[in-house]
Amino acid sequence: MELPETLRMDPAPSDERIPTDRTEFACLTDFQMNEREMHMRFIAAVVVLIGFASLAHAADGDVAKGEQSFRICGACHSIGPDAKNKIGPELNGVVGRKWGSVDGYSYSADLSAGKEQGKAWDEAALNDYLENPKHLAPHGKMSFAGVKSENQRADVIAYLRQFDEKGNKK
Ligand code: HEC
Repeated sequence: MELPETLRMDPAPSDERIPTDRTEFACLTDFQMNEREMHMRFIAAVVVLIGFASLAHAADGDVAKGEQSFRICGACHSIGPDAKNKIGPELNGVVGRKWGSVDGYSYSADLSAGKEQGKAWDEAALNDYLENPKHLAPHGKMSFAGVKSENQRADVIAYLRQFDEKGNKK
C-alpha cells in the first residue's frame, strides 16, 4: 500500500538539518525531529492496521448475523445434518460445491448447464448469485429478489461456509 505523501518518511532531509559541528542546540533539534518522525510512523502504522482490519471484516462476514439472515433462505432451503431438498436444494457444503449437483433435485436448465461447464459456487459466484439470482441464472428457478447489502451477503456466506457436505460444522 502506497502511503500518502504526508505520511511518507524520507530520512535524508532531517539528516541534512544536523550541522556538522554539533552544538547542544543541534542535538536538541535532532532529538525533536526523531520524536516527530516516530509519531508520524506510529500514525502511519495505525492507518495501515485500520485498513487491514476493515478489509478482513468485509471478506470474513459474521457467522451469527449470517444465521439470522439465513432465515430468509430457510423458507426454501435447509442446511445441517437433517437437511432435505425443499423448494430449493439442500445447501450442505455449498461453498465450493458444483452448481446443480444435489442428487434428486430438479434444477433449472441454467444451473444444470453450469454443472456441465464445471462451474462451482466459490464465494465470488455466491456473492453475485445472492445479490440477484438473475445475474448468473437469468431463467433459473430461485424466485428471490436477492440480498442487497454486501455485508449481509458476506454474513450469509460465512454461515454457509461452516457446513461440510454432510451438514456437520467444520
Ligand atoms: C423462494 C424460495 C427461495 C429462497 C427464499 C431462496 N432460494 Fe436459493 N434456490 C431456490 C431454488 C428454487 C433454487 C434452484 C434454482 C434453479 O434450479 O435454478 C435455489 C438455488 C440456490 C443455490 C444453488 C444451489 C445448487 O445446488 O446449485 C444456492 C447457493 C442458493 N439457492 C442459496 C440461497 C440462499 C443463501 C438464500 C438466502 C439468502 C436463498 N437461496 C433463498 C429457492 C429459494
